[in-house]
Amino acid sequence: MIYREFGNTSFKTSCIGMGTYYDMRWIFKTYLDIYTGREQKEDAIKSGIDNGINLIDTAELYRTEKIIAPVIKNYKRDELFIATKVFPTHLSPNSLERALSRSLKNLETDYIDLYQIHFPNPTIDLKKTLRTMERMIDAGKMKYIGLSNFSLNLLKRAQDILSKHEITSIQINYNIFHRKSQNDLIKYCEQNHIAVMAYFPLGHGRVAQKQYNEYFDYIRKTIGDVPNANIALAYLISKNQNVFPIPRASNRLHVTQNAKYSDIILNEEDIKYLEEKL
Ligand SMILES: NC(=O)c1ccc[n+]([C@@H]2O[C@H](COP(=O)([O-])OP(=O)(O)OC[C@H]3O[C@@H](n4cnc5c(N)ncnc54)[C@H](OP(=O)(O)O)[C@@H]3O)[C@@H](O)[C@H]2O)c1
Repeated sequence: MIYREFGNTSFKTSCIGMGTYYDMRWIFKTYLDIYTGREQKEDAIKSGIDNGINLIDTAELYRTEKIIAPVIKNYKRDELFIATKVFPTHLSPNSLERALSRSLKNLETDYIDLYQIHFPNPTIDLKKTLRTMERMIDAGKMKYIGLSNFSLNLLKRAQDILSKHEITSIQINYNIFHRKSQNDLIKYCEQNHIAVMAYFPLGHGRVAQKQYNEYFDYIRKTIGDVPNANIALAYLISKNQNVFPIPRASNRLHVTQNAKYSDIILNEEDIKYLEEKL
C-alpha cells in the first residue's frame, strides 16, 4: 500500500480510499429502518482497513455513517482518516453546527478528520459557512475543511475567505474516461497542496466492461495480470501525486483486490497509451 500526505496535512493516508455511497434504494431503506446487506457492507469496510486502507469517505446524505461507526471502533482512531460531508441545505451556521454534531454522533467519534461541503449552495453565504467551519476546527470537532463539486473559481474564492485555516481537499468526478475537463483543477490543487479525492474512479464500474479489455491487455504486458479496475486506479495515482481515488466499498472481494493492487505505478509510456485509447 502506498501512503501519501493528504493535501496540506501531515497525515499520510492510503493513496486509495473507500467510498460508501451505495444507492438511492439503500438510502430510502435506512429511513424505513429496513437495512439489507448491512453486514456485507460493514465487512467490506473492515476488510479494507485490515488490508491497509485508512481513508474512508461518507456523507450525511449517504446514510452510511452509522455502519462505519461499529467498524472503526475496533481500530485506533488516530490511524484512520474519516471524511464526511454536510448536505448543501445545512450550510448556515446553526444548521452546520447541528449537522456536524449529528455526524459525530452517527460515527460515534469525537472528531471528524475531514468535513466537506458536499455541493455549493449559492443561496447561503459561503463566508458564514467557512467561518463556522474554522470555529469548529478550533473547538476540536473537526480537523480539516474539504470541498466537493466546487469549480476552480469557487475553490479559489473559498481559499480567499478563509483566514485561519486552509482548504485541504476537493472531491471531483475523475476517472480514466472523464479526465480532460479536470486537468486545470488538478494542476492548481497540486501547486497548492490540496488533495483531490476522485469519485467515480472506476467510472461507476464501467472500466471492468469487457469491451475495454484489449486496452488493459496492453498494460498487462508490462505489469502482469492485474484486473482492469486496478489498472484504472493505478492510472489515477501514477499520473498525479495528489489524487486519492475512493472506489466504492460494498464487497469484500473488490475491496481486498483494490488494496492488494494499490501499489502498482504505471510508467509514462503506459499512461500515454491509455490516454490515447480511452
Ligand atoms: N462527492 C460527490 O458528489 C460524490 C458523488 C458520487 C460518489 N461519491 C463517492 O465516490 C465513491 C465511489 O463512487 P461510485 O461508487 O459511484 O463509483 P465507482 O467506485 O467508480 O464504481 C463503483 C462500482 O465499481 C465496482 N467495483 C469496485 N471495485 C471493483 C473492482 N476491483 N473490480 C470491479 N468492479 C469494482 C463496484 O461494485 P461492487 O459494489 O460490487 O464492489 C460498483 O459497481 C462513492 O462511494 C462516494 O463515497 C462522491
